[in-house]
Amino acid sequence: AFECTLSIIKPDAVAKNVIGKIYSRFEDAGLKIVAARMTHLSREQAEQFYSVHKERPFFKALVDFMISGPVMIQALEGEDAIAKNRDLMGATDPQKADKGTIRADFAESIDANAVHGQKKMATAEAVNLLDFDGPGLSAYCANS
Ligand code: CMP
Repeated sequence: AFECTLSIIKPDAVAKNVIGKIYSRFEDAGLKIVAARMTHLSREQAEQFYSVHKERPFFKALVDFMISGPVMIQALEGEDAIAKNRDLMGATDPQKADKGTIRADFAESIDANAVHGQKKMATAEAVNLLDFDGPGLSAYCANS
């Protein structure tokens, strides 16, 4: 199906100066960047974004890491965008990620794992992170 999904390039990959290399992977796979914003998340935003993990032992480390520097947030659009983006990223743990995936090539550890990709269609909450001035994401991204 034609989908729109939310992607975050995490502080480790922004610091490594590989935003462009990661964008090329999206584009070469037929995913279109239809909206993007660089921002430094607040603790509240990061806690809310990852609230599904709040009981997990790694929650505090995850939030601390996600607010340690700027992140690049983008909406990706395309055929089967959610699965395609997750294939491009590789396994959560870079040690287990297939060769040629973003995490295998750019990530160091399960915490500093370069990218996040949504498992579901972009939600209103996720879209808020993009913080558009003008019309909402629906103006840019089909089916959101
Ligand atoms: P992400 O896809 O952004 O979703 C939650 C993040 O928690 C995950 O990537 C990892 O960076 C981080 N994390 C740390 N430890 C674990 C773990 N044991 N299992 C899953 N995610 C973890």
